[in-house]
Amino acid sequence: MGLIKETDYGTPAARSARQVTLTIDGKPVTVPEGTSLMRAAMEAGVEVPKLCATDSIDAFGSCRLCLVEIDGRPGTPASCTTPVAEGLSVKTQTERLKQIRRGVMELYISDHPLDCLTCAANGDCELQDMAGAVGLREVRYGYAGENHLEEAKDESNPYFTYDPSKCIVCSRCVRACEEVQGTFALTIEGRGFDSRVSPGMHESFLNSECVSCGACVQACPTATLTEKSVIEIGQPEHSVITTCAYCGVGCTFKAEMRGNEVVRMVPYKDGKANHGHSCVKGRFAWGYTTHRDRILNPMVREKISDPWREVSWDEAIAHVASEFKRIQGQYGRNSIGGITSSRCTNEETYLVQKLVRAGFGNNNVDTCARVCHSPTGYGLRETFGTSAGTQDFDSVTDADVIMVIGANPTDAHPVFASQMKKRLRAGARLIVVDPRRIDLVRMPHVEAEHHLQLRPGTNVAVMTAIAHVVVTEGLANEDFVRERCDWDEFQDWAAFVAEPRHSPEAVAEITGVPAETLRAAARLYATGGNAAIYYGLGVTEHSQGTTTVIAMANLAMATGNIGRRGVGVNPLRGQNNVQGSCDMGSFPHEFTGYRHVATDAVREVFEAFWNVALDPEPGLRIPNMLDAAVDGSFKAIYIEGEDIAQSDPDTQHVVAGLEAMEFVVVQDLFLNETANFAHVFLPGSTFLEKDGTFTNAERRLGLVRKVMPSRSGMADWEITMAISNAMGFPMNYTHPSEIMDEIAALTPTFAGVSFEKLDRLGSVQWPCNDAAPEGTPIMHVDRFVRGKGHFVLTEYVATDERTGPRFPLLLTTGRILSQYNVGAQTRRTGNTIWHTEDVLEIHPHDAEQRGIRDRDWVRLQSRSGSTSLRAKITERVAPGVVYTTFHHPETQANVVTTDYSDWATNCPEYKVTAVQVALSNGPTEWQEHYEELSEANRHIAEAAE
Ligand code: SF4
Ligand code: SF4
Ligand code: SF4
Ligand code: FES
Repeated sequence: MGLIKETDYGTPAARSARQVTLTIDGKPVTVPEGTSLMRAAMEAGVEVPKLCATDSIDAFGSCRLCLVEIDGRPGTPASCTTPVAEGLSVKTQTERLKQIRRGVMELYISDHPLDCLTCAANGDCELQDMAGAVGLREVRYGYAGENHLEEAKDESNPYFTYDPSKCIVCSRCVRACEEVQGTFALTIEGRGFDSRVSPGMHESFLNSECVSCGACVQACPTATLTEKSVIEIGQPEHSVITTCAYCGVGCTFKAEMRGNEVVRMVPYKDGKANHGHSCVKGRFAWGYTTHRDRILNPMVREKISDPWREVSWDEAIAHVASEFKRIQGQYGRNSIGGITSSRCTNEETYLVQKLVRAGFGNNNVDTCARVCHSPTGYGLRETFGTSAGTQDFDSVTDADVIMVIGANPTDAHPVFASQMKKRLRAGARLIVVDPRRIDLVRMPHVEAEHHLQLRPGTNVAVMTAIAHVVVTEGLANEDFVRERCDWDEFQDWAAFVAEPRHSPEAVAEITGVPAETLRAAARLYATGGNAAIYYGLGVTEHSQGTTTVIAMANLAMATGNIGRRGVGVNPLRGQNNVQGSCDMGSFPHEFTGYRHVATDAVREVFEAFWNVALDPEPGLRIPNMLDAAVDGSFKAIYIEGEDIAQSDPDTQHVVAGLEAMEFVVVQDLFLNETANFAHVFLPGSTFLEKDGTFTNAERRLGLVRKVMPSRSGMADWEITMAISNAMGFPMNYTHPSEIMDEIAALTPTFAGVSFEKLDRLGSVQWPCNDAAPEGTPIMHVDRFVRGKGHFVLTEYVATDERTGPRFPLLLTTGRILSQYNVGAQTRRTGNTIWHTEDVLEIHPHDAEQRGIRDRDWVRLQSRSGSTSLRAKITERVAPGVVYTTFHHPETQANVVTTDYSDWATNCPEYKVTAVQVALSNGPTEWQEHYEELSEANRHIAEAAE
């Protein structure tokens, strides 16, 4: 395959339903009203020269290269800024136009370095292309006049350079930063000849507001903004379309390659989740895939204090199989289990649960979605009938009111945040429900109308109070409810929420949200037009996570905000394949498609297909496995792609569970924290080294394509298959597409999915079957999947985690843009420049009381444990609340979090921990002990090489 070049239509597509017909260079063309002449020409197969226009941003009309003539109209208008009109006759190639264009190009080239042959963009430069297209052969002005050729480069960004000598001041970068990314980091400063692009007020890119999304680099038509990887490696030769392996937005990329080396990742315009945009992680942070820390050979050791020993794949697999069988023989069938990861592909996740259910003969399989979005699955299935979000991302363009609850999209789901911000700039109104003043509350050209800065742990009280206002002020959409939901249940629910104890005034003291603010937000949500809810882990990771999900679903049904574009209840999934890992039957009680293992009819289908008897009893969840390990009944585990020692709550309990097991198998890219306790390490493959699918937060399945050979020699699905075969349960797949065929055969909602279809359509959103052969963008359109929408009462029960004299502050946790979860990948990329350590955000008032100054070391202590980190004094958090991220193992933020969890799903209560903060001298005892252990683990691994 060669290099994929996408067509640049010059200006964005128009959305009008009205069609207009005109002729361009004698060719008739029909396009939607509002289309530019430039785009219409491209549709007719006529390419008009251009420099300042590109189809990801609105036309600007500055370069004057795209001029055309229109019969009956005077002058030579710019085709990029002139809209089509019925019956126009347009000419793009007259002698007059050619002369004007050559003159324009001459001026550009006379102030441009003539180093094309050694320029990194040689062959990929629009200035070069246009000089050729307009037939420029000489420059009459010479090159000796005043120019910008000596200006210094800005190389501060780790991933791209800014070389002002090559800038043609087309402002594509400025407009991309504003319109596509929504960050407004760039300006054109100065006038006329002196005008120049500048990040912020004469700042470097690194020190400016720039979030390194790369939209400006992609938009730049010259080598002014260029990826450093292109400068180092050279222009790519071929490209492969694949899916980002970071967050649940699921952006589609072109991996542009030279041989087996990635030159750059370019977001793909046809990607349905990202439409050609990306964030810093997906576009730039792929260096971990070839990082020297990657473990490439299988390793074993008898005891965790022994050195690692490299072995062959055959020896490692045989050892794993024989140990699992020995332990089952000695301690019983249920003494072993497995954990899959939301980082792995659907096919890999499916195979792990198949290995556990069919090969191990029990249902002890769980996934890291347990610790993030399991309440979403439970809550949305209870109310609507499907354990997934209701919309596609594009739906937000029709939202009039956007409510963001417990999510921080600009950091955790940046590309969707850009789409949301665009809609907000166009007039949608915003409600933010979050203990922290996240960026969306106020940023350039976006401001929340209401910020409900609630106390952590009071989501249910807030959502029920919003429902109280809706019901008691007569704002419910009763017509919708009568038609679509169970009316009797609605009435019970309405009577419940209308009780005075649920009024905003009654809960204001508990929640910390002023009653008037809450009332205003409720009125806006119910009456502001299409209202859409987007939420994240700030909803789910609570002891009442499931209750809040249900409360949001109740609210959407009561106001009729479900079943069409612009509305809905939408979980923003953290990791790339959280949705998929849940769909694939990774929970101990469910097969694929959320069907209970105890349902005979379902189990029989799997038994017949797999030709094995299956256990009808649900197995152990992750916390139960760890408890059982400490109790002595759970002895061995297979962990694929998950670092529970860092990511799961109450680290010391996790460590105790792992230490208590006789045999721990870790399959991962790096010696992660969990590998400190492993007896076998099986090296995994990155998303660039294997085929498969990921399912994003919109239920969209996208293909992951192998762009380079696996450095360890085996894709993860091949490793699982080998273990299964060695244990005596045969699996025979030659490609992940065959695994997907099996999933489709066994799962009604996936019946129409195949690699061939994904290849053809680019992606599909499940359900995809005979009823919806090309997938389902919006769910519950005419009826809820479960039939009638189900209202459930949402009694607020305060978490047992309370503040008091010993632990007077509430800790809540989250992510930042440049790092990803436990940081195993992003800490091994240039992204570390933005975030070298986790810090504790504390309000100035709380800091002053404790004598804490900015950057001081502080000890963060809860009843579970303590850790030390540096303080950052900020009003982003309210008094009484502190906040940190969990990206660095040195901090071990989860040493502090507790074992409280969601009542329905055991999802840990990461978001509420009562803590005390005090000045400290440095790391805690636990951190020092842990550091020694990790050092030993790695040191020994090196010694064994
Ligand atoms: S990288 Fe993104 S945020 Fe930074 S200047 Fe470019 S477009 Fe703006
Ligand atoms: S940096 Fe590139 S995109 Fe920006 S004005 Fe200069 S040439 Fe145009
Ligand atoms: S938004 Fe998410 S999926 Fe898209 S590039 Fe960034 S990390 Fe990848
Ligand atoms: S492309 Fe139309 S004026 Fe520059």
